[in-house]
Amino acid sequence: MAERMLEIRGLKIHFGTEEGLLRAVDGVDLAIDAGETLGVVGESGCGKSVTALTVMRLLPMPPARIAGGEIRWRGRDLVAAGEEAVRELRAREIAMIFQEPMTSLNPVYTVGEQIAEEHDDLLSALRSDDDKHLMRVVERHIAVRAPRESDD
Ligand SMILES: Nc1ncnc2c1ncn2[C@@H]1O[C@H](COP(=O)(O)OP(=O)(O)OP(=O)(O)O)[C@@H](O)[C@H]1O
Ligand SMILES: [Mg+2]
Repeated sequence: MAERMLEIRGLKIHFGTEEGLLRAVDGVDLAIDAGETLGVVGESGCGKSVTALTVMRLLPMPPARIAGGEIRWRGRDLVAAGEEAVRELRAREIAMIFQEPMTSLNPVYTVGEQIAEEHDDLLSALRSDDDKHLMRVVERHIAVRAPRESDD
């Protein structure tokens, strides 16, 4: 059976605003197993980004607050986990492509460099101009084999 990667149960995220309490997310349940892709669809403002940002622990709290529910990453409780523990997972195991990619990706760097910035060996291989070495390093990092000349 595939590993349960992410499980969210009854997640509630509230914002304290001048007009009172805003229930941005009010009881979200979802689960994603290894190899699965889940699409979340909903009208603007229904809480998709707030949910994702909370999993990444990137939502400023306050004004936001996790008012209930649980977020489990590979069985581990992320609501209770400390900031340091979540930072360890962020980018290495859980990543997010932000909704405004033009402001999130730095146009001064190539996409490859921005992907590689978490991994020193990948970054140096990328800058070495040695394509074969780069492919070997990439293969070490990702589960999908790079295409080979003999494959085509
Ligand atoms: N910092 C904040 N303070 C108060 N309310 C906020 C804050 N950030 C988000 N919200 C509210 O939380 C709700 C959910 O917003 P969210 O950005 O998650 O929507 P979304 O589903 O991602 O929408 P879209 O499809 O437009 O991206 C909205 O009502 C939004 O106004
Ligand atoms: Mg959004």
